[in-house]
Amino acid sequence: MSNKIYKLSDPSGKTSAPPLREGTLGPATLDIATLYRDLEIFTFDPGFVATASCESKITFIDGEKGVLLYRGYPVEQLAEKSSFLEVAYLILYGELPTNIQFEAFSNSIKRHSMVNEAVLRFFTGFHYDAHPMAMLTAVVGSLSAFYHDSTDIHNPKHREVFAHRIISKMPTLAAAVYKHGTGQPFVYPKNELGYCDNFLNMLFSVPAEPYHVDPVSAEALDLLFILHADHEQNASTSTVRLAGSSGTNPYAAIAAGIATLWGPAHGGANEAVLNMLKEIGDVKNIDKAIAKAKDKNAGFRLMGFGHRVYKNYDPRAKIIRATCHKVLQKLGRADDPQLELALRLEEIALKDEYFIEKKLYPNVDFYSGIIYRALGIPVHMMTVLFAIARTVGWVAHWQEMIADPHMKIGRPRQLYTGTAKRDYMEIGKRI
Ligand code: ACO
Repeated sequence: MSNKIYKLSDPSGKTSAPPLREGTLGPATLDIATLYRDLEIFTFDPGFVATASCESKITFIDGEKGVLLYRGYPVEQLAEKSSFLEVAYLILYGELPTNIQFEAFSNSIKRHSMVNEAVLRFFTGFHYDAHPMAMLTAVVGSLSAFYHDSTDIHNPKHREVFAHRIISKMPTLAAAVYKHGTGQPFVYPKNELGYCDNFLNMLFSVPAEPYHVDPVSAEALDLLFILHADHEQNASTSTVRLAGSSGTNPYAAIAAGIATLWGPAHGGANEAVLNMLKEIGDVKNIDKAIAKAKDKNAGFRLMGFGHRVYKNYDPRAKIIRATCHKVLQKLGRADDPQLELALRLEEIALKDEYFIEKKLYPNVDFYSGIIYRALGIPVHMMTVLFAIARTVGWVAHWQEMIADPHMKIGRPRQLYTGTAKRDYMEIGKRI
């Protein structure tokens, strides 16, 4: 708690002195919980532009400096030295694991990789061209109809089993979503494979011939998963917290997060970036696209650009941009015209007064789609891959919230501007 005092008073002389709370890093936060009691006023902040919705110890972002820390560790160090499963452990448990802890964790994640056959039968209800995110939202929500042995959210052991189950089953379900769309048979998980190798095998192998996971692809996927694992109180994570705050089944809360991630202003941007690059088509059309993005009446934004928190280069985008060339080279796709187009688009946008003034930089989704495409992931599956990685963050935030003895149901207030009280009029008397 800071000793700075902010005093608010109303014309009648009533006062409120909301305490200022200091975090470990980042701006201090005015704790306005007693404001309504003291002054009978609410605060108004649509879109949570300046409102902290909770206290958290998981992830820190400094948007002005372009800093991202998971449990205090810079994402650049984790991207270079760690693995997705190790980062998952760190985000969930707060510390990097010892060898013994990591072995136990990865064994547990492997053990939970199969899904009940009845869940797989749900897919027959979807049309072949259903959007993968629609299917993923539905099947993850349907998991709440299973696993009744471990859904007492107030039992820490149950919460842990849930966390391992959902992190383990997401690749299996994501691959099933893809297989349903292609008409190929589902492929069961192989527990001797690593997390990303196993996913690629379920995605691309077919019974007719042997399939060998390309280690370059698995490594690139692992890196992208690290970079997408958590991002503090983003829209989907806040949705998971809000849904979870009612005490709902955790699988249902994660399904709500997946639904939120789908939107093009959030995780759906990786799909939107590739569609946009396809539409731009050629370097010679970039100026036209930039002009359209600046025209408020055009209803078009440069996808993969801009961020609510980052007013500097998104550190994740910086890592992916640097990796893009290397991965594409190794995969024999170095001459990808969309990478050249993206690099040129970025170069031109970053010199443009509009983007400079509004501090619009490439975000994580600007380059991720180019790597995903080089790995053979179809465009409409890209947000599904984001969801696999972000499940770790969603689960960690849900856990943190439920374990807090002071947890309250999330229930925002509103500024009502509708009609004032009036009396019901019989239908025949209305004009
Ligand atoms: N292209 C053109 N103009 C933009 C863009 C863009 N990509 N992003 C923001 N702007 C402009 C807005 O028009 C607005 O201009 P104004 O001040 O003249 O009205 C200003 O920049 C601020 O934009 P807001 O929408 O108010 O910023 P907000 O923080 O609410 O939105 C968002 C952030 C949603 C990410 C936005 O930048 C955007 O739509 N970007 C494109 C979609 C995208 O890439 N989303 C992925 C985000 S990362 C993630 O979720 C994984």
